Order: sequence, then C-alpha cells, then structure tokens
Amino acid sequence: MSKPIDLLMDEHKNILLAIDGLLDQAAKDEKTGRISADFYRAGIDFIRNYADRFHHAKEEDILFIELNKDSVKMHCNPTKQMLYEHDLGRQHVKELATGVKENDLAKVLAGARGYGELLKDHIYKEDNILYPLADEALSDGAKDEMLAKFEKIAREYSGANKKYELFLSGLNK
Ligand SMILES: [Fe+2]
Ligand SMILES: [Fe+2]
Repeated sequence: MSKPIDLLMDEHKNILLAIDGLLDQAAKDEKTGRISADFYRAGIDFIRNYADRFHHAKEEDILFIELNKDSVKMHCNPTKQMLYEHDLGRQHVKELATGVKENDLAKVLAGARGYGELLKDHIYKEDNILYPLADEALSDGAKDEMLAKFEKIAREYSGANKKYELFLSGLNK
C-alpha cells in the first residue's frame, strides 16, 4: 500500500484499540450496573476528535473527494456507503453521550456497542476493499498530493493527538 493509505490504516489500529476499550468497559458496567462516566467521556472525546475530526475528515475531505473525480476509474465506488456509516457512527456516539448525561445504562451500552460493532465492520471494509481499490486507482501524483495534505493535518493535530495517545496507552491497565 502507498504511504498515505498506510497512514490511514495505522489510524484504524488506534481506533480499534479504543473500541476494544469501550466494549470491555461496557461489559464490566453491564455486570456492575454502574456507568463509568469519566471513562466514556474520555472515549467520546477520542472518538469525536481523533476518529471523526482527524481520521474521518481525511477520508471525507481528501481521499473520497479524490476518488470521486471523473479521472479516477474504480469498478465500484463504496464512498457513499462509507459516508453513510460515518453518519451512523455519529448517531451511536450521540446515544452514548446522552446515556452518560442521563445516567441511563441501557443507552450507554447500546451506544457503545452500536458504535463499536459498526466501526469494526466499517474499518474492515475500508482496509480490505476501499483502500486497496483506492491504491490501485489513484495516480502517483494524486497520492503524493494526498500525503502532503495528510502531513499538514498531522502537524495541525499533533498537540491534540498526544492526548489521545495517552488515552490509548491507559487502556487495559
Ligand atoms: Fe471511514
Ligand atoms: Fe477509516
């Protein structure tokens, strides 16, 4: 895979780690009947800022735009479905956040699990279908431009992303 696609796949690994943490916590809270509000708040912050604002913005505002140009030929174009799943993910996170706010365990569990299952499946499809298609379809020039844009975003987010590295390293301890 080319460098910009590799970067996106590395971000998927981080998002999957956070999802594992979220699903583990949901299982524990289901047993105890208590909501670990601080953990979910940190998880929601990670999802909204790292997974959505940072990672999904790179997909939606750069990669998908590139793939929808007339010059790019793919035998199928899953970007519409991927956008739909990003939106669905946002709805699950909203449900989780509402559950935390209202101290409603059923909503917390539904939101956390809904998000976790959706995004695991979504990431699988991107890693195994969309990204390989993109890697084949995009020209070297387009990939170089994409990489430059990704590196610029990474610089803008480097401060914020340090916080999220800490969140990830604190999981499963
Ligand atoms: Fe995506
Ligand atoms: Fe993705």
